[in-house]
Amino acid sequence: MNLTPALTRKLAPEQPLLKTQRLVLRPLALDDAPTVERLAGEKDIASTTRLIPHPYPPGMAEHWIGSLPELYAKAEMINWGIVLDGGLLLGTIRLTLNPVDNHAEMGYWVGKPYWNNGYCTEAARAVVGFGFDKLDLERVYANYMARNPASGRVLAKLGMIQEGLLRRHRRKFGRYEDLIVCGITRAEWQAHKRQMATASREPSSPASPQSTPAELPPKICGDDG
Ligand SMILES: CC(C)(COP(=O)(O)OP(=O)(O)OC[C@H]1O[C@@H](n2cnc3c(N)ncnc32)[C@H](O)[C@@H]1OP(=O)(O)O)[C@@H](O)C(=O)NCCC(=O)NCCS
Repeated sequence: MNLTPALTRKLAPEQPLLKTQRLVLRPLALDDAPTVERLAGEKDIASTTRLIPHPYPPGMAEHWIGSLPELYAKAEMINWGIVLDGGLLLGTIRLTLNPVDNHAEMGYWVGKPYWNNGYCTEAARAVVGFGFDKLDLERVYANYMARNPASGRVLAKLGMIQEGLLRRHRRKFGRYEDLIVCGITRAEWQAHKRQMATASREPSSPASPQSTPAELPPKICGDDG
């Protein structure tokens, strides 16, 4: 049974822009290739991602960006460039869609000069919201190498739950790495959104992803305490 058309119907023919307070998430264009090559060319980006090689081969960014429209048209994968309001491309984020199980895997990277400004979290929140609200997904998940706590922190701030640890599951630069799997279901996302909305109305108690909503199991992703 081919379930892809159901998801395809939910995707507009043109890939949608997602807007957040500071960012626009938009389809990547061939003009972005030099920036992608420069930012993703940093060893620290390759080091904790699955498929980005180091050194980054010349022409790879162009080839990759050129392949994205077809992946979108086939409802297999949606990639967005993460762009600052003024137009500066600072990273990329994607959903890999699984129409059979009605879920998606999220992946991302942000250029090193822009780390720790909340950009990834802001972009990921919009992408997860898109997955649940526009695509009606049942679940969104992501995984990260155990030695990459910044990614775990991003997922924790989205309300994701740590679901498992796959031992020596990834091989990067010739070394096997433990992989942590995190996920959030549709119901948990609704609860997380309610919690964030409540927290934002109470200035004395800022939104804290470390405080566990009653509806959620206790282990928050990235919370290794
Ligand atoms: C992971 C990554 C996307 C995060 O992007 P970012 O825009 O810096 O993320 P944010 O600013 O939204 O959040 C980062 C959080 O991690 C925290 N953090 C950073 N380094 C950390 C560390 N060594 N230990 C624990 N927390 C850390 C930051 O303090 C921040 O949390 P806070 O807002 O509570 O202070 C970025 O580091 C990156 O691109 N890394 C290389 C590629 C990669 O690993 N991609 C993900 C593959 S799973």
